[in-house]
Amino acid sequence: LGEGLAPTPPMGFNNWNSTHCRAEFNEAMVKGIADIFVAKGLKEAGYEYVNLDDCWALPQRDANGKLVPDPARFPSGIKAVADYVHAKGLKFGIYTSAGTKTCNAAGFPGGLGHEYSDARQFADWGVDYLKYDNCNNQGVDAKLRYNTMRDALNATGRAIVYSICEWGENQPWEWAADVGQLWRTTGDISDNWGSMLSIMKRNLPLAQYAGPGHWNDPDMLEVGNGGMTDTEYRSHFSMWSVMAAPLLIGSDLRKAPASAFEILGNREVIAVDQDPLGKQGTVISSEGGRWVVAKEMRDGSRAVALFNESGSPQRIATTAKAVGLPDAPGYRLRDLWQHTDANTAGTISATVPAHGTVLVRVSRDRDWALLPPAVEVSAD
Ligand code: DGJ
Repeated sequence: LGEGLAPTPPMGFNNWNSTHCRAEFNEAMVKGIADIFVAKGLKEAGYEYVNLDDCWALPQRDANGKLVPDPARFPSGIKAVADYVHAKGLKFGIYTSAGTKTCNAAGFPGGLGHEYSDARQFADWGVDYLKYDNCNNQGVDAKLRYNTMRDALNATGRAIVYSICEWGENQPWEWAADVGQLWRTTGDISDNWGSMLSIMKRNLPLAQYAGPGHWNDPDMLEVGNGGMTDTEYRSHFSMWSVMAAPLLIGSDLRKAPASAFEILGNREVIAVDQDPLGKQGTVISSEGGRWVVAKEMRDGSRAVALFNESGSPQRIATTAKAVGLPDAPGYRLRDLWQHTDANTAGTISATVPAHGTVLVRVSRDRDWALLPPAVEVSAD
C-alpha cells in the first residue's frame, strides 16, 4: 500500500515549530492554514498536507480504548477538520508516538500496543499522513515498533504516508525504506542558524539513501518563525530543497511576514526539491565553510548550491565538470533566487553573502552564447 506514496518529498504544513503545545494550536489554526494554502497560491505551488503534531488528544482514551480529541482545541472533532481540509483539495495528517505516551509532559496516549485500533481510527477520520514519534518507547526495538504500525496502516486499506520520527537513533536510513516514506535523520530543529546548520551537516552525508518514496527527513522548516534573517531562511530553504527534504512549513502563516511567502513560494526552488529523479544533492566541496552541493535533475541539469557557512562574504566556485555535467562549449546558469539567466564556459562561481546561498541551475544549452556572461557578484 505504501507503494507509490511520496514519489517526491512530501510538502505541506505542521504546527509544531510555531506553536509547540500552546493553546493557539487548535481547529481555527488548522483551518486557517488550509485557507491560506489555497488563497495564497501555496497549494498551487505543491503544498498539500496539513498536519497536526503532538497535543491534539486528551490524556485518557475513552472506555473503548479510542483516542479522544481535546474538545478545547478541536471542538468539532478531528473528522470535521479532516473533512474541511479535504474539501479544499488538500490532505490531512496526524501524529502519535511509538511509545506508551507522546513526548509532552502532560502524557498524551501513544500508539504502542494500540497500533491496529489507532490506525483504524485514523483511517476512519480520513487521515492521509501519520507522523510516528519515539518518546516513551519502553526500550522496545525500533524496527519492531515502526514495522507494527506500518502493518497496521496497511491493514486499514487507506493510503497513508508514514513519517518515521525516531530522530536517526537507529540508523533508519539503513532499514526504513521498506517501512515508511520518510525518516527523521536528526533531533529537533530550532529556529536559529546554528541548529539549521548542524542538522544540514548531519543530513548531507546520507544522500545515497534517499530516493522516490523514501526520503531523509532533516526536520521541518523554520522559515517565517523570526529567529533567522531572510538571507538565512533562503539558505535553509535552498539546502532543504537541494537535499530533497520534505518541505513542511513550520510557521503560522496567519502571522508570517511577506518575505516568508516569497521564500516558501519560490517555484524554481521548489522544482529542485520536487524533481522526479528524486536524487538528494551531494557535497562537491566544503573547504573553509564554502559549501558546494549539487543535485542531479531529471533533465540532465544540476542544481548547484553555493552555501556560505561563514559570517563574512566568500567567493565560492566550482565547475560544470566538477558537478557532473558533460563537456560542452558553454552552459546556461539560471539563478533560482534572482530569476536571471547568464552563460558560462564552465566556471560556476559567486561572491556569497555571510550565511547566504546562491542557488543556480546549470544546464547544457545550445543557445548559451546568446545569454549575458555570468557576473561574479551576487547581490543579497
Ligand atoms: C519530538 C519530535 O521530534 C518533534 O518533531 C515533535 O513532534 C515533538 N516530539 C512533539 O512532542
